[in-house]
Amino acid sequence: MSISAPKPRDAFASTLGAFAATLGSAIGLGNIWKFPYLTGSHGGAAFVLVYLLAIAFVGIPILVVELTIGRKMRLNAVHAYGTVVPGQKIWAGVGMAGVAAAFLIMAFYTDVAGWVFAYVFKSFGAFLGGRTLDGATFGALAGGSWEPLLWQIGVLVLTTAIIATGVSKGIEKVTKTLMPLLFVLLIVCDIRALTLPGAGAGVTYLFRPDLSKLSASIVLYALGLAFFKLSLGMGTMTTYGSYLPDSTRIVPNATRVALADTAVSLLAGLAIFPAVFAFAGKPAGGPGLLFNTIPLIFSKMPMGGLFTTVFFVLTAIATIGAMVSLIEVPVAWIIEKGHVTRPGAAILTGVLMFALGIPATLSQNPLLANVKIFGKNFFDLFDFISSNVLLPVGGLAIAIIGGWFLTRKGFAAEMNKGYAEEPWHGRLVYGIIKYVTPVLILLILLSSLGVLKLG
Ligand code: PFF
Repeated sequence: MSISAPKPRDAFASTLGAFAATLGSAIGLGNIWKFPYLTGSHGGAAFVLVYLLAIAFVGIPILVVELTIGRKMRLNAVHAYGTVVPGQKIWAGVGMAGVAAAFLIMAFYTDVAGWVFAYVFKSFGAFLGGRTLDGATFGALAGGSWEPLLWQIGVLVLTTAIIATGVSKGIEKVTKTLMPLLFVLLIVCDIRALTLPGAGAGVTYLFRPDLSKLSASIVLYALGLAFFKLSLGMGTMTTYGSYLPDSTRIVPNATRVALADTAVSLLAGLAIFPAVFAFAGKPAGGPGLLFNTIPLIFSKMPMGGLFTTVFFVLTAIATIGAMVSLIEVPVAWIIEKGHVTRPGAAILTGVLMFALGIPATLSQNPLLANVKIFGKNFFDLFDFISSNVLLPVGGLAIAIIGGWFLTRKGFAAEMNKGYAEEPWHGRLVYGIIKYVTPVLILLILLSSLGVLKLG
């Protein structure tokens, strides 16, 4: 029970509930769509290796800082960072940048989530009609106009409705039961993909790094993915930390979330790459990789069409927990700023997110396909600015606040709540937060300053 809350606020009822919600925010399109396609366009295992290092030395430590600051302040991200260092309101900028990132991410996230929801129906239709979905289906959907926009509106209405009513126990329950199902289905996919003739090449591609492929750009994208994956650098986990029970042990909890999340990404990679290689496809298929390969893999097994539908249903469900947490960042801020009810804040946020989503969704439509800023269309630009700029810069500030601007005693007391004395992992993580994480982020950001120009 959060007795320390200054006024009655929503809170997670138990450590298990908090774990499920945190994991629900982390698991989403990042695992099943983004991790595979970024790995595919950045040379495979070398990218995976850097990504794993980024999770260990940047992701877990920042998750710990965010949950710790959130629980200590019991406020939305903007107010939490604006008041966490006494007399230094300037850090509220971290929360504001987080709100901006939430809008940019939702603009393209809801576009892709819309494709996933559309694929639920398209794959079911194909199953009933005895057809297999091919690349043309995806091209027509992503390059369309009204169709992807309507799916995007649908997705936004759904998420806004959930947020408006509060994150109901129903959804928590549904997500909790369906997450294990997602695991099981991924494993079914893995077995199917790994037993295809020629699958070995895909496993090698995913796990045997060719270090000559490493570049500043790969390292930047891997870092950006680590932030995106664990919902870091923008106050989402700070907001969730503010709902965390005092009894939750933060370091073990954060580590478990990171491990489970990474496992889902690797399982998705193991389902996709062996199949890509077995069917002589291109690993660098870009954002369409998932939509083009999953129906193909499943078409090779009995009732494959039905499995494809179930797979997209589960992916669709996984997107909901992530989107809910994305919308919650601005909504919690608007509500706690005062004068606006939760439904009002949710609707306002949803409408603004849709407005920003239009250019992202139409970026593959002939109308906007040729509009490029820094060599990127709106979809890629929003993704790049949020994942590779705003989240790492926000994360850098968060690590510096945790390691250098808060007293070690105060920070450690909150982080290690639940232990009689400071545990070894608390000391270890604190050292990493202070000396390793900020240096790594800074080096990566500096070394990749040219990436945007190079496109
Ligand atoms: N972690 C989510 C995913 O990997 O799909 C995406 C995400 C959710 C990013 C929430 C940022 C965020 F605040």
